[in-house]
Amino acid sequence: MLNAVRSGANPIMRCLVAACTALLLAACGTDRAAPLDVELPALIPVPLHVQYGEGAYRLAADSRISGVAHTDMHATLEWMIGLINEQAGLSLSLTDGPGALRLELEDSAAFAETLAAIAAIDARGVREAYLLEITDDGIRIAASDEAGLFYGLTTLWQLLTANSNGELPLVTIVDAPEFEWRGVMLDSARHMQSPAFIKRYIDWMALHKLNVFHWHLTDDQAWRLEIRKYPDLTDVGAWRVPAGDAPATDIDEATGEPRKYGGYYSQETVRDIVAHAASRHVTIVPEIDVPGHATAAIAAYPELGVPGHGVDRVSASWGIFENVFNLEEDTFRFLEHVLSEVTELFPGEYIHLGGDEVVTKQWLASGRIAERMQELGVNDVQALQNYYVERLQDYLSTLGRKVIGWDEILESELPPEAAVMSWRGVEGAIAAAAKGHKTVLSPAPTFYLDHVQTNAPGSPPGRGGIVTTEDIYGFDITPDSLTEKRDLLLGLQANVWTEHIRTEDRVVYMSFPRILAIAELGWSAPRNQSWASFAERLERHGGRLDALGIRSRGPAAREPHVPRTARLTGRELKLCSNDIVLALEDDAPLEGHRESFLVDIMNPCWILEDVDLSVAESVAASVGQLPFNFEIGDMIDDVVVESPESGDGELRVRLGSCDGPVVALLPLVPAFGNHGVTKLPAARLELPEGASDSHDLCFSFTRHGVEPMWVVNWVEVFGGVSGDSR
Ligand code: ACM
Repeated sequence: MLNAVRSGANPIMRCLVAACTALLLAACGTDRAAPLDVELPALIPVPLHVQYGEGAYRLAADSRISGVAHTDMHATLEWMIGLINEQAGLSLSLTDGPGALRLELEDSAAFAETLAAIAAIDARGVREAYLLEITDDGIRIAASDEAGLFYGLTTLWQLLTANSNGELPLVTIVDAPEFEWRGVMLDSARHMQSPAFIKRYIDWMALHKLNVFHWHLTDDQAWRLEIRKYPDLTDVGAWRVPAGDAPATDIDEATGEPRKYGGYYSQETVRDIVAHAASRHVTIVPEIDVPGHATAAIAAYPELGVPGHGVDRVSASWGIFENVFNLEEDTFRFLEHVLSEVTELFPGEYIHLGGDEVVTKQWLASGRIAERMQELGVNDVQALQNYYVERLQDYLSTLGRKVIGWDEILESELPPEAAVMSWRGVEGAIAAAAKGHKTVLSPAPTFYLDHVQTNAPGSPPGRGGIVTTEDIYGFDITPDSLTEKRDLLLGLQANVWTEHIRTEDRVVYMSFPRILAIAELGWSAPRNQSWASFAERLERHGGRLDALGIRSRGPAAREPHVPRTARLTGRELKLCSNDIVLALEDDAPLEGHRESFLVDIMNPCWILEDVDLSVAESVAASVGQLPFNFEIGDMIDDVVVESPESGDGELRVRLGSCDGPVVALLPLVPAFGNHGVTKLPAARLELPEGASDSHDLCFSFTRHGVEPMWVVNWVEVFGGVSGDSR
């Protein structure tokens, strides 16, 4: 609940917000002597301390904003004012003279005293903090740094875009962040976004007080950052032929080869994006993933790989590759050159070196690697990963930078200044903090925004396993073991991995509203957090998101179970198992709408529950076929492959369970050669004598191998024999 504050010298303060379950909502007005005729605004993230006065202040449409001559933030101010003017129907402008809205940068000691007199924020200091006062005399935003002024303005933007017509509650807001790292990671390697989109995305983050943009720029499937010394990293490493039969037949006339997907960010573009982010008080943390997730780099420069494991092209498969960098001095020199260019481009304190999911198989099998390990004094391949981190950290130290990496880097000794990003639950953060390292919480699956938000028909693809905004909001980011080490917890971060997020629209959909929960967990004091309040504020925040162009958004909470209909899509059917569940998009058609399918890639099998056999006579289905483009190591041998009963495969329907009697076989022949989805001719259900109750039906495919992976698009059970109308 919001900090309950006595009005002190201000006898008109009435709204003891702690008493209100719904924060900052109209209900609070019941404590007011004279309720405002404006609706109280929905603020996200919720501020630390809000103290309402009685009455309202009307900001004239053409008011002036003063007090900015001594700041560097003119361009940012112009942007914020433009946004407010456009969305609130005002025509505010900057002035050197007096203004109705005053921005004041204060000395930090004096500012700390000012704030302490109103609200207790001393423990968190005054960095990024602001004071926003709306009185009969006008509006004042004070801060001791420009980030604070900016955040005060973002709150004012929210106040003025609550259908207020410039009418604002008299209010004093003291606000400061709970955590210094309020991040979102965007994977631009698996799928790339345009520079204009990245800048817009950063704007959207900043408007919600998110301040770290972790930019995943290299991976097995692409290297997206121009490195001047190594042009093939992007000339070769930034391009791949997408997986599947449809892309394989999409011939590029210029080359006579299948068209490649790709692109990269030039250094000029990166400088522009970094400057843009800085103007929004967002730090970009670039990630150059070493020593694994290196296939694209090795495709560009095969001498970087383990001898005998060269790769001749960038792969379009997802998953965990065995390709890793080798241990040659030239490879370290390569990485140091890369990092020297990276640090020239990105001025932040941390450089992310990945370090996750390193498969040691190639290292273990290589005589040359064994030789080099001996020369380097590294005894064990597990320790090699750390050798990488330590060596590159040493190099980065000479450039005044620090390493951050995924929590695997903790598996051996780390330099004390290295920070750890905990993704395998919160355990990495707990272990890092126990060793005295700073840490960022980014736990899978809850903070992994590639997970779907719903399986409603038509919803975009993603990793299976629903994660809603409510799930994120409810995640305990400070378990007891971390509370004790609170000083080492830099903050938290959501990750937008893009294997299954092909378009910018879908990045938006998968990010919103979920990153707003991250914003509130990261910025707001825990005592002010309440899901009921957040959900209500979020609903009213929708108009602002629309105005920003964030129109594609997921549902905030788990949707009620989809009512059973005659036809169920594969997204709605129950899966027979839950090993590696993905909501995958078809590879066809190349242009226009593609279906998406929910599938356990280890066992493509679906259950239609409770079918009334007293009326069910026939079954129809629509199916798709997908490339099996997943690097899953030896697990490939465990993928369930059932042999065809006849010909080249069927959709097989079993009664009761997946071990039950076969009651229908729908041959796949009509779907061969069709890259998109195919409706198979309906088949009669051959039910055992007397079967009449409700039973489950199990659907699986027979096939000769893992490729292609057949998937259910929809199934339908009906009376009669004709499926023609369906
Ligand atoms: C990760 O998800 N491999 C950090």
